[in-house]
Amino acid sequence: MAFEHKSVLLEETVNGLNIKPDGIYVDGTLGGGGHAWEVCSRLNDKGSFIGIDQDAAAIEAASARLCDFGERVTIVRSNYCDMKSQLQKLGIGKVDGIVLDLGVSSYQLDTAERGFSYRVDVPLDMRMDRRQSMTARDIVNDYSEMDLFRIIRDYGEDKFAKNIAKHIVLERAKGSIETTGQLTEIIRQSIPMKFQKNAGHPAKRTFQAIRIELNRELEVLRDSLDTMIELLNPGGRICIITFHSLEDRIVKSIFKRNENPCTCPSDFPVCVCGNVSKGRVITRKPILPSEEELENNSRSKSAKLRIFERC
Ligand SMILES: C[S@@+](CC[C@H](N)C(=O)[O-])C[C@H]1O[C@@H](n2cnc3c(N)ncnc32)[C@H](O)[C@@H]1O
Repeated sequence: MAFEHKSVLLEETVNGLNIKPDGIYVDGTLGGGGHAWEVCSRLNDKGSFIGIDQDAAAIEAASARLCDFGERVTIVRSNYCDMKSQLQKLGIGKVDGIVLDLGVSSYQLDTAERGFSYRVDVPLDMRMDRRQSMTARDIVNDYSEMDLFRIIRDYGEDKFAKNIAKHIVLERAKGSIETTGQLTEIIRQSIPMKFQKNAGHPAKRTFQAIRIELNRELEVLRDSLDTMIELLNPGGRICIITFHSLEDRIVKSIFKRNENPCTCPSDFPVCVCGNVSKGRVITRKPILPSEEELENNSRSKSAKLRIFERC
């Protein structure tokens, strides 16, 4: 199957990086290499690009797509939370720009056997990194009802989270839940019919929640951003595309704290905490896809781009 993925907010992100042709740029979510290709095409022979992804299929697709850029490009299979140590291995201390385009690619969603989609009946999987042993099956069969409720409510923002968790636990008592089809059917039975009509596919939110939990998507983001900002040279920028409010909230608040890290009470006449600003938020409001992009790429619907510049 060909690696199909339409890059979201492509021009806005690449323009947002303010690329120096001889700079060092990193993409922590390489995917099919769509953003990467645009970045690489703006570099000269002195510039370099490091692409990171934890998914073997993305590494293969991006390696093929970027091969014309030769030695300018280095591709690493890793989690972006290890960006600093991966760069150190390459002898790189600081960089001029970082891109994160979060979540899963269309290729991952559309490849049936990866188990991300509720549209086909396959074994429950949802791992972005298939070297990891835990899968969605383990979450569905082993998490307590309370934990299932918590993740479906918090990461899926599903108002029927409690009922869905209850039904999962009732069903698995009869025999383990092995496939996306079984899980989808349980979710259907947990949501009143009148709410299933206009609210998109009933399994969408629960599948998103399990995927976020399994791949530790929010934790990894929260734990990586300060280090990424530290990795930037003065004037260097980080551009982050998020796809739901939980991710966007994390990016917004960490950018804000890095712009103004002062912890002194507001009535102190001068700052005594000694925390120094790391730079400035370029996007007071997030950049959203244009009407044209929204029409041509349904995946862009919830996308938001935020940019921070290091001082
Ligand atoms: C939305 S796609 C990126 C698409 C890419 N920007 C393009 O234009 O082709 C997200 C990619 O990030 C990868 N990914 C998500 N979280 C990651 C993480 N914590 N570490 C490394 N890769 C990650 C996924 O495997 C997926 O390939």
